[in-house]
Amino acid sequence: MEQVITNSFDETKKLGQEFVKKILHAHDANSALVIALYGDLGAGKTTFVQGVAQGLDIQQRIISPTFIIVRKYDVSIKYQVSGIKYFYHIDLYRTESEKDLEGVGIKEILSDSEAVVFIEWAEKLGSLLPQKRWEVRLEHLEGDRRKISLKNK
Ligand SMILES: Nc1ncnc2c1ncn2[C@@H]1O[C@H](COP(=O)(O)OP(=O)(O)O)[C@@H](O)[C@H]1O
Ligand SMILES: [Mg+2]
Repeated sequence: MEQVITNSFDETKKLGQEFVKKILHAHDANSALVIALYGDLGAGKTTFVQGVAQGLDIQQRIISPTFIIVRKYDVSIKYQVSGIKYFYHIDLYRTESEKDLEGVGIKEILSDSEAVVFIEWAEKLGSLLPQKRWEVRLEHLEGDRRKISLKNK
């Protein structure tokens, strides 16, 4: 496990950028590469994912998908290593039931071996959360400081 303290919005974005480049290569092609994000509102989950999108050279602006639960982006050709073509940003904050999850096609997304999937409020997935995953935990320290731990499960 790696633990990092960031001191600004930009540092958290940078961390996301570097993180995704490291993990893309370790992808085995049987299912999606899943990254579960945990942390309170304002901890910096979306910020981290914005950095990831930059790292993958995604040109569209990453807006928080809080109202639209799932957003899908194409990964630029340059980063389509280990067969990953799609980048999903999922925010489950507003989901209330297993039915909501089915509604967004979560099972199909998680089994898509061409996808890298970042999930905010991943605890809401319950038993649907794949065993094999990365966990990124963000904690609000004082002011602009955040403690971020990155773990491969
Ligand atoms: N070190 C930091 N890392 C990330 N965000 C920070 C940091 N310091 C301050 N912020 C601010 O905290 C907020 C984080 O929001 P966001 O990334 O949307 O959180 P979440 O998705 O976890 O609710 C932003 O307004 C951002 O500018
Ligand atoms: Mg968010």
